[in-house]
Amino acid sequence: MSPAGVPGRSVTVRVPAKVNLELLVGPLRPDGFHDLATVFQAVSLYDDVTVREADEWSVQVVGPEAHLVPTGQGNLALLAARRLAEATGVQERVSIAIRKDIPVAGGMAGGSADAAATLLACDALWGIGTPRYLLEQLAAELGSDVPFGLTGGTAIGSGRGDRLAPVLARGSYHWVFALSDEGLSTPTVYAECDRLRAGGREVAVPEPTTAMMTALRSGDAPALGKALTNDLQAAALSLQPRLREVLTVGMECGALGGIVSGSGPTVAFLVTDAEAALDLAVALTASGVAPNVKRATGPVHGAQVVAGPAVSRVD
Ligand code: C5P
Repeated sequence: MSPAGVPGRSVTVRVPAKVNLELLVGPLRPDGFHDLATVFQAVSLYDDVTVREADEWSVQVVGPEAHLVPTGQGNLALLAARRLAEATGVQERVSIAIRKDIPVAGGMAGGSADAAATLLACDALWGIGTPRYLLEQLAAELGSDVPFGLTGGTAIGSGRGDRLAPVLARGSYHWVFALSDEGLSTPTVYAECDRLRAGGREVAVPEPTTAMMTALRSGDAPALGKALTNDLQAAALSLQPRLREVLTVGMECGALGGIVSGSGPTVAFLVTDAEAALDLAVALTASGVAPNVKRATGPVHGAQVVAGPAVSRVD
């Protein structure tokens, strides 16, 4: 507990966004989730999550899109902190401050990243040395993409995307992300995918493709560009048809590959190098179809403590 004016300890964790290089959606399961075969890559767009000793649970978000993040009791970072406290018998509470650079409701797992960061930050703040398996289990309970926020790098996700296995991946990749000014809800996109598939053939439980694994193993960016696949893309385009134009313009401007990121609506373009990334960012902005773009590289580390436990003033 930290009465106002008394120094309170804090920990800051930096956590990356993700892009799905391959997202193959299998059948709808009885629990409402879909079996997936996906390949995640962590990219260098980061949120910084600071947890601080406090008398009450709270969360606060800063950044250009902060107003789009719900800060009530359902906030995923807040749920993560409370769940870790409950699972480990900790009586403390924290205030959570999120500096947000990952697009909100953009298909880049921003909320999941914040939950992963919060688990790690609270573990460090409380000094409880939570076993890795427990952190990963709690992460999976919080959401399908949360375990990958802890791991980062490049990984295969199976089950509902929460069961991770490492991938032999070479090279560093350059990305340009075209942001949308209107988010998409993940359940809505999955439901649209089911609707579009209704009456179609039965889908099998998917497996990662050889084309993707070979491209990653050899660090072959042009081959990776061709292998990018997202079974949710048709659903995202159906819900936001203007994304089609973003994809067309990006490919016409020299991207190696373009794909809707996760459940969208962010569109991810793979390019050859940093110069090509700058050129594409300028072209997309100038075309008017994607006024808001970000550049990043991947793979990068998962959630990492970058500051603390440190003592700072609580006012
Ligand atoms: O796990 P998460 O909370 O991110 O999932 C949000 C929603 O996305 C789920 O409630 C479900 O509707 C959909 N989903 C799915 N299959 C998955 C992952 C998510 O249908 N593998």
